[in-house]
Amino acid sequence: MANSLTNMVGDYLFEQRIHTDTVNVESLAVRIAPLLAQSDTEALYEELTAAGGEMGGRLMVLDRYGKVQVDTYSELNGVRVDYPEVASVLVRGDLADYGVHPLDGVGEILKTGNFLLSDADAFNWVGYCTAGVIDHSDVIGVVLLSSPVQTMMANLYELRDQMLVIFIAVAVIAIIFCLVFSNIITKPMTALTKSIQNMARGDFSVRVKVRGSGEMRRMARTFNSMSEKIESLDQARNQFVSNASHELKTPLATMKIMIESLIYQPEMEVGLRTEFMTDINREIDRLSSIVTDLLTLVRMDVRDVKLSRENMSMAALIKDTKHLLGPMIKKRSQTVTLSIQDDCDMYADRTKLQQVVYNLMENAVKYTQEGGEVNVTLQRVGRDAVLTVKDNGPGIPAEHLPHIFDRFYRVDKARSREAGGTGLGLAIVHQLVMLHGGEIHVESEEGKGTSFIVELPLHLG
Ligand SMILES: Nc1ncnc2c1ncn2[C@@H]1O[C@H](COP(=O)(O)OP(=O)(O)O)[C@@H](O)[C@H]1O
Ligand SMILES: [Mg+2]
Repeated sequence: MANSLTNMVGDYLFEQRIHTDTVNVESLAVRIAPLLAQSDTEALYEELTAAGGEMGGRLMVLDRYGKVQVDTYSELNGVRVDYPEVASVLVRGDLADYGVHPLDGVGEILKTGNFLLSDADAFNWVGYCTAGVIDHSDVIGVVLLSSPVQTMMANLYELRDQMLVIFIAVAVIAIIFCLVFSNIITKPMTALTKSIQNMARGDFSVRVKVRGSGEMRRMARTFNSMSEKIESLDQARNQFVSNASHELKTPLATMKIMIESLIYQPEMEVGLRTEFMTDINREIDRLSSIVTDLLTLVRMDVRDVKLSRENMSMAALIKDTKHLLGPMIKKRSQTVTLSIQDDCDMYADRTKLQQVVYNLMENAVKYTQEGGEVNVTLQRVGRDAVLTVKDNGPGIPAEHLPHIFDRFYRVDKARSREAGGTGLGLAIVHQLVMLHGGEIHVESEEGKGTSFIVELPLHLG
């Protein structure tokens, strides 16, 4: 780089030099033309010495045969000079010419500064500038300026060395800057990588510091919110597993006690024995329903769960469900009224919606005191079917409402269990409604009753 810059500067200086020398020599040639025509050697010598001092070189005047007439160094008088630059004026008829030669007069002629770096001998080069002396449109001689190029070369070499130093300094500074800068950039990156590795090892509590430039900050923030989410998912999963095992263990423990009693008291009377067996049978039913509900939930957790949609009537589904719940309604002497304002024909997964309606109506019948009232309303609002299941039961205390759709969440554990509930019903309902792209809300007032409101897109055309 330093070299090529030096070369460029060298070329420029060289061209400048050629230009000024040529202009000077040409004007000198015009001035001395009359003197040469008259062969006034003395006047010529004076003129040349004055001009030579100005131009900083050796000046000669040659006649039309290339013989030196006047030499400011008085060495070559009368000698024939046959430099190519002289020939080009005398033979080829050029007005002026310029060339650079080695000092000893042999070797290649160079017209530009490119020789600069090729050879240390460059200090020994000399520049020749010639111009024709014209008298009455006749070339009667040549003015020859020979000037050393050492000074210019020396300056260029110095320039090159200085540039080399500057370039090296700049390069060193740039490298240091790059190292420092890349360290600043990569530091948060390294921290992030470490955190990701920790996370891969199962530590979801890792967070990174939010710092650095815009992009880095955003990345750190995204990472933190991702790890937060994963952490809470992980906690929820652990919670679920521990809840599930607890729920499964309870009936197993009860069964074990009863079975042990049966084993160790072989003389137990028949009535008690049957009672024990009935209890065991009920516990088995509970286990089985917990496992069924768990399986339902787990299946819905799989991302690409498919709805098998069909044309169906929500009104018919509600009527069917009331029919299914008939024995229970009768047993608890509840009044269930349906107020169906629209058939709500829709394109949905019938079996899954059946589960939704069944769970909500069953809860209403189950948790409302005997002789209660349950109202099921179906309306069409825009492109949605709106189902409301309302009861005048005990209601759900406000502090429980936010958790009502959580898995295994029960307001009154003992009562729910006694009623054969698993605490998974509303979680399943919630999932199913979400799957259909719908929404579910609960409104409840303690002592007055509860309403579950489900909005489901009809999904028609
Ligand atoms: N209509 C309702 N009235 C009062 N409490 C209700 C009603 N529906 C649900 N709950 C409460 O919400 C809890 C969760 O319901 P759910 O998920 O269906 O579980 P469960 O298997 O106990 O029925 C119930 O245990 C009950 O305490
Ligand atoms: Mg239930």
